[in-house]
Amino acid sequence: MARYIRKDRWYQKAKKEGYLSRAAYKLLELNQRYPLFKPGQKVLDLGCWPGGWSQVALQQVGQKMEKAGKVVGIDLAPLQNFSHPRWEFLQRDLYDASLTQEILDRFGEFDLVLCDAAPKLTGISVTDAQMALELTQKVIEITQKVLRAEGDFVLKFFSFNELVPLIKALENRFEKANRIKLEASRGGSSEQYFIGKSLKKAKMP
Ligand SMILES: C[S@@+](CC[C@H](N)C(=O)[O-])C[C@H]1O[C@@H](n2cnc3c(N)ncnc32)[C@H](O)[C@@H]1O
Repeated sequence: MARYIRKDRWYQKAKKEGYLSRAAYKLLELNQRYPLFKPGQKVLDLGCWPGGWSQVALQQVGQKMEKAGKVVGIDLAPLQNFSHPRWEFLQRDLYDASLTQEILDRFGEFDLVLCDAAPKLTGISVTDAQMALELTQKVIEITQKVLRAEGDFVLKFFSFNELVPLIKALENRFEKANRIKLEASRGGSSEQYFIGKSLKKAKMP
């Protein structure tokens, strides 16, 4: 699969600074506004290809071995050009029914779940809204099982009306919740980010 080819200023900056995607700057911006990382954390990166968010997470969870964290990335697409001693990659579909149990069996619960996954949008609003809704529901379902109590969650979502009740319900599951649109998102994009801090102990919707 080809790397992103849009050559805007974020693309050029990522290339110069060694990030695998322009999306890395979205996570850096989110982390600046709502500090997300601590050394030693275990982070799950859902929809991680081509790897920009995983790179940022690895930098942020600590380089020193005694405090070194771990990052696990999952995507449909293969990710062959990146490796790191504290990073593991699973090439999987988030809709795979056995995925959640596999994650728990292999890694246990996570301190932070990141999700930048996006369906392939068609431009047909009703179809795109349905795909975005289903993917968001699936990601929330996985997260509610693998995120530890008091853990944090970052979720990309698209501004379709169909998603409003889901995101509202999600807000109630965290001690603090915010939604933002980022500077590094492409102009005209309807993507937003949900940031949930400190998962309440009861289950998510
Ligand atoms: C915008 S990209 C993620 C960019 C990434 N955060 C980065 O920094 O490089 C969205 C990713 O979501 C993945 N994705 C979408 N649906 C998926 C699914 N059902 N299972 C696994 N990955 C999925 C796509 O394959 C795509 O690579």
